[in-house]
Amino acid sequence: MRKIDIFDTTLRDGEQSAGINLNTAEKIEIAKQLERLGVTIIEAGFPASSPGDFDAVNRIAKTVKNSIVTGLARCVQKDIDATWEAIKVAEQPHIHVFLATSPIHMEYKLKKSPEQVVEQAVEAVKYAKKLFPLVQWSAEDGFRSDRDFLVKIIGEVIAAGATTINVPDTVGYASPQEYGALFKYLRENVRGADQVKFSAHCHDDLGMATANSIAAVENGADQVECTINGIGERAGNASLEEIGVALHIRKDIYPFETGLNLKEIKRTSQLVSRLTGVVIQPNKAIVGRNAFAHESGIHQDGVLKNPETYEIISPALIGEDEVPLVLGKHSGRAAFRDRAVKMGYDLSDEKLNKAFAEFKKLADRKKEITEDDLVTLLTEQQVLIEDVPLYELKSVQVQYGTENIPTATAVVATPAGDIATAASTGAGSVEAIFNTLEQLVGGTVNILDYRVTSVGKGRDALGEAVINLRYNGYTTTGRDAAQDVLEASAKAYLNAINRQLIQASIRAQQPTV
Ligand code: KIV
Ligand code: ZN
Repeated sequence: MRKIDIFDTTLRDGEQSAGINLNTAEKIEIAKQLERLGVTIIEAGFPASSPGDFDAVNRIAKTVKNSIVTGLARCVQKDIDATWEAIKVAEQPHIHVFLATSPIHMEYKLKKSPEQVVEQAVEAVKYAKKLFPLVQWSAEDGFRSDRDFLVKIIGEVIAAGATTINVPDTVGYASPQEYGALFKYLRENVRGADQVKFSAHCHDDLGMATANSIAAVENGADQVECTINGIGERAGNASLEEIGVALHIRKDIYPFETGLNLKEIKRTSQLVSRLTGVVIQPNKAIVGRNAFAHESGIHQDGVLKNPETYEIISPALIGEDEVPLVLGKHSGRAAFRDRAVKMGYDLSDEKLNKAFAEFKKLADRKKEITEDDLVTLLTEQQVLIEDVPLYELKSVQVQYGTENIPTATAVVATPAGDIATAASTGAGSVEAIFNTLEQLVGGTVNILDYRVTSVGKGRDALGEAVINLRYNGYTTTGRDAAQDVLEASAKAYLNAINRQLIQASIRAQQPTV
């Protein structure tokens, strides 16, 4: 079977989605999970774009061993140098350089002639090749580019040393038939095409990203670029889980092997949703809450008689096994640690102790501690930033009655090391809490979006709050979970403010390059 490399760009193209802002610890957590999922390449960020991105790419390159780590760069020396500084520690340093090739991008965005674009691409690839063994070059807006121009420029960047050629459908305009035909044409006409890998990179503006990616594979692409849950610019990128599972389930017509560990899909999808705050639509193929739910009586009857009547994918394939009770109130620290290790967490003793304390608190209030609850508790500790002083909620109390004005009182530990208390009213309990916290953090906070969902099932499930707010001219998304949704909301609010403190501390550091 032909091997198709999975190039995951959740941390680069996915992170470019509106409202997503992951910190370095969260990016490392996602990268480690992508490694467990078995992706071939992780695009960890755009090192020249900010010190924060540089740091994240560098730390991921140091951490990940079983996937290749890459960083994005424009076709300019300063970007290539920054990417080298960030990636050189990796086992197989890989760079992804890109330059637009469509008439509209060359004329209006780059303001360059096609000849100048060829020259810049070739210079950049030659320069990158002096540093990196693996150089991927992308023709941005490749699908809307002139085919013969593509043949010429790709031939020249291959001669300059590129090892992978990516031809993106940057604006999600292609149909499967057209995109496939483009790969066939390039494979047949580009000089040196047999010496390189071809890669597909599809956006989902017309809902065809998965179909387009597979069409490219059928016509000679050896690599597909995708994101978890399909997150990304505008309508998003091709979704990894759809491509991986489609190739597996229909191997009768797609004789390709991706090397993905499909059992890790559910967990990866949930981790990305939790850390980015991007909710998965319930009917999303493969990972949506309803993807395996049979609602109509006729379907339920059929599935009971033989699951294959309506089920083409078994939930177990993507790791959606039912684990109703993994640990209970009487479980000790050793059992908790053992479970955390089995689930793939690698926490310091201090963080493990904190997670265990939270587990005990939860076990006092909740009958069954599920795998979902454990993932929430352990991930919270794993991504906690310890070296920047932050706000911490010590307590929150709300007085509410249908006939009274809701009043909240909150106590927080401040970054300055003080304990501060405030109280305020609001039209509802949540507004009263937010007004109180606004006093405590000082300055004006605008709430742009706020929602609460449950983690797992049952009336005693944890509540998770996600809040998008604007403070001090910056927008951040915060989230947190607790058994009470009001407590979760207060913690999510402070989490969003804390993200700004972390970003401010990164900005204050000297740029690394
Ligand atoms: O969509 C696109 O063209 C990109 C490139 C940077 C590869 O993301
Ligand atoms: Zn893209």
